[in-house]
Amino acid sequence: MTSASFSQLAEFLQTRSGLVLTPDKMYLVETRLGPLMKREGLPDLSALVGRVRAALSSPIATEVVELMTTNETLFFRDGKPFEHLKEKVWSRMAATRGPSGTIRVWSAACSTGQEAYSVGMSALENAATLGGCRVEILGTDISRDVLKRAEQGRYSQFEVQRGLPITMLMRHFRKEGADWHVKDPVRALVRWREWNLLAPPGPLGRFDVVFLRNVLIYFDQATKARVLDQIASVLAPDGVLYLGGAETVLGLTSRFAPLDGVRSAYALA
Ligand SMILES: C[S@@+](CC[C@H](N)C(=O)[O-])C[C@H]1O[C@@H](n2cnc3c(N)ncnc32)[C@H](O)[C@@H]1O
Repeated sequence: MTSASFSQLAEFLQTRSGLVLTPDKMYLVETRLGPLMKREGLPDLSALVGRVRAALSSPIATEVVELMTTNETLFFRDGKPFEHLKEKVWSRMAATRGPSGTIRVWSAACSTGQEAYSVGMSALENAATLGGCRVEILGTDISRDVLKRAEQGRYSQFEVQRGLPITMLMRHFRKEGADWHVKDPVRALVRWREWNLLAPPGPLGRFDVVFLRNVLIYFDQATKARVLDQIASVLAPDGVLYLGGAETVLGLTSRFAPLDGVRSAYALA
């Protein structure tokens, strides 16, 4: 791999998805794109980059972006945002929206869907607090592959063992063969859509709660700031933003302020 082809790949990835590829990630390029190059009969990275740059919206260019995303996720990841949602947000929002209202939640960069389904399970478990107020969840990701898996709602034993309390597994999943399937009442709360966070989110509508977790870490400062500002523009005035444990708005935007002293929960400033 030449440093010129690596830089060209990095430039393509950043423009297309915001993902920053630093030189210490060369091994990642080899392991993730090697099989694709072999399948396509391409001798090296510069041949692949040539194909991609010749047709930026071709299926192979899309496949390169998908292969370079990191899709690690789990149910009820980090705990705290879900506790906050349950303890503070559902009741507060149900009170202001009323029994015929709707709370719209966006799981932005949802990967294989565990985050969106966790919100769905929380809504069902707290139906009494919600008092008839509907919860609608939108799961989006740049990767079609992970969205397909999210939509299937089928998880391995290993995946359900990560983060999901056994009581919730029993209530909201059914076992089929070796896998666990999310039951219909949870699935009915979630819709899925391919969406690049670099695009202005206006067409997705307005949201009351946004989970934007463990994706900003892959972007540079300017992209993080742009994505956060765009999200501020679609968040309800009393809306809540959750970031990942290693993420913050500090030094990026003045549109958000910490909420309820909970790490990674933010409100509009
Ligand atoms: C590490 S996962 C985070 C999943 C989940 N939010 C969580 O915290 O467990 C990061 C996800 O961000 C997605 N992603 C990366 N760049 C993106 C972009 N520009 N627009 C939308 N999604 C993106 C990846 O495809 C991946 O599924």
